[in-house]
Amino acid sequence: MRFHIALAALLPLLLGGHSANAQVVYSTATEATARSPDGKMVVALRVSSEGRPEYSIQRNGRPVIDWSRLGFILADAPKLERNFELARVEEKSIDETWEQPWGERRFVRNHCTELRVRIREKPGQHRAITVVFRVFDDGVGFRYEFPEQAGLPQVNIVEELTEFAVAEPATAWWIPGGEWNRYEYLYNKTPLSELGQAHTPMTLRTASGLHIAIHEAALVDYAGMWLRRVSGQRLKAVLSPAANGPSVSRWAPFATPWRTLQIADSAAGLYMSDLILNLNEPNKLGDVSWVKPFKYVGIWWGMHLGTQTWSSGPKHGATTAETRRYIDFAAKNGFRGVLVEGWNKGWDGDWFAKGDEFSFTEAYPDFDIVQLANYAKKKGVRLVGHHETAGNIANYEKQLGPGLDLYAKLGIDAVKTGYVADAGGVQALGDDGRIHFEWHDGQVQARHHLRVVEEAARRHIAVNAHEPIKDTGLRRTYPNWVSREGARGMEYNAWGDPPNPPEHEVNLVFTRMLAGPMDYTPGVLSLTGAGGKRIQSTVARQLALYVVLYSPIQMAADLPENYAKHPKPFQFIKDVPVDWSDTRVLNGEVGDYATIARKDRNSDDWYLGAITDEEPRTLRASLSFLDEGKKYYATVYRDGKSAGFNADGQSLEIETRPVSRFDTLQLKLAPGGGQAIRISTNLGSRAPRSSPKPKPKSQPEFDVE
Ligand code: NOJ
Ligand code: CA
Repeated sequence: MRFHIALAALLPLLLGGHSANAQVVYSTATEATARSPDGKMVVALRVSSEGRPEYSIQRNGRPVIDWSRLGFILADAPKLERNFELARVEEKSIDETWEQPWGERRFVRNHCTELRVRIREKPGQHRAITVVFRVFDDGVGFRYEFPEQAGLPQVNIVEELTEFAVAEPATAWWIPGGEWNRYEYLYNKTPLSELGQAHTPMTLRTASGLHIAIHEAALVDYAGMWLRRVSGQRLKAVLSPAANGPSVSRWAPFATPWRTLQIADSAAGLYMSDLILNLNEPNKLGDVSWVKPFKYVGIWWGMHLGTQTWSSGPKHGATTAETRRYIDFAAKNGFRGVLVEGWNKGWDGDWFAKGDEFSFTEAYPDFDIVQLANYAKKKGVRLVGHHETAGNIANYEKQLGPGLDLYAKLGIDAVKTGYVADAGGVQALGDDGRIHFEWHDGQVQARHHLRVVEEAARRHIAVNAHEPIKDTGLRRTYPNWVSREGARGMEYNAWGDPPNPPEHEVNLVFTRMLAGPMDYTPGVLSLTGAGGKRIQSTVARQLALYVVLYSPIQMAADLPENYAKHPKPFQFIKDVPVDWSDTRVLNGEVGDYATIARKDRNSDDWYLGAITDEEPRTLRASLSFLDEGKKYYATVYRDGKSAGFNADGQSLEIETRPVSRFDTLQLKLAPGGGQAIRISTNLGSRAPRSSPKPKPKSQPEFDVE
């Protein structure tokens, strides 16, 4: 028997902030379904003849996810997998709009249908779990809730049986899951049927052109999910292991993270989805006006080039004199932050092998932290703290309080953390008083990250984690968790073998960036890595990355002396904001190209960034998002005629001219190139003074149709 609840469809259009009362159905039925608000997405949960719980997803009447298993294998109790019946079904509509303190857009609409299905074992202990679906126009999230019950007080999960049986043949963009280098891999593009084990977000394009991204939301006190192909196009959740015992150990009641499927007709549609954020809990920190989006420079790239060291000695980067130079540079050019790495004791020798030697309170003698924090403050700049742990969280957690207290006392309100250790090499103190080797995305590390974020929040400090656990949208709940790494960043262009090919950054847009902000650290205008190695980019592309790869904190990663050599493109880095009231993807294909426009949160200005892979392209960008009747000037930073990632990367053309919402631009991108545009209502002092005279409208170079 099938019952179908059409309550959501019958409800009058809901007002913002409104949740309809749930309709409750007690049932002996074997299947429950719910539809998205637009009626196009349908989720069904059924129990098979053996009582196995399964779900499926359809869109526009066509299967997207075929019947896929649900359930768990437990360490110390019979598995939760069969002999279930539907015990209770509830459905409600959710339609609310909430405001982000910072982000890609200011207001987010959470509009979906919630289906809660309580399933209960027929024989034995009659244990029950609830599967909760949220069905959106642009995807589906679901999670398991474990109620408090006599038959299952503590839940020790060895395996989650959740499957994703992708219905149509698909191409997959993925990085390997469970490998030594965490998330720092180049993306594979393969038929889904050739996938091994992958991290999420994993992005798929089906034969009919449907785009699907599988990921998770609200990864709290649980193990991260990898995806393993079981057969054909059937994927299964694999929980990141624990050093000892089950992957996850929890006391009921609790809920698992949401398993998410963003589903859209285009790559742009995936990027525009707010489903992950909507499935996270609202801000738990209250007033977060102390969390400031900012741009920063830092004593950093020199170490990656090998011209400076984190360790003490003649090449020590974090000296008082060098930090003053960076503070002066930041103050002069309007950057709020100055990151200093290698200021604290513990970097000498093989630091990544000896995390227990890091001190988070003691500076090297040639770094006067108090004097520098005061000097920075006087100049309107803040130091950005650094806590590299080498993955030794036992040592870090011991010092977490004092380490953060020191920063708070000095007015340092952001810290970059780091967990450089091979996957499976995070050293944590177990309940048994011994060191256990954990994964970067296991339950222990999920707990650790939130502990750091909460301790930092108590002191009004923002966190930017490197070698992190993946982003699952927790910035909504903890808005001081501003950014993270969790992919191959710019550092690979210093010493990586191979460095990041042009395709990598385009891959990131529609994979990694679906999870949330990334501290990629763009802006290396010298285009030069360690030993003079050429970065696979153009200068215009370095600028475009500030718009394309979103983060509320963005580094200008190059050395001050290199910016001095490139004053014209540097002007864009000084101008570009990091906080937005709106975001539009104007065009894009996974792994090929992307053009994103964003509106400054603090003015009427828009910024546009476009990047391509190794192919030259001409992309169309309609400016119809601009306000009618307003006068705008576009300052365009475009690849020059001889530009290319394997040609003259410095070839750049800059021009400023009026535009309106009726213009459609043609963006010419060189191989591996990009384009960055500032569209301002105010020609003013921020436009580069050295730009060439505006060309007449008929000139083809400006590329206005
Ligand atoms: C790896 C980080 O990604 C990088 O930014 C940092 O400089 C080093 N670890 C040292 O902490
Ligand atoms: Ca890294």
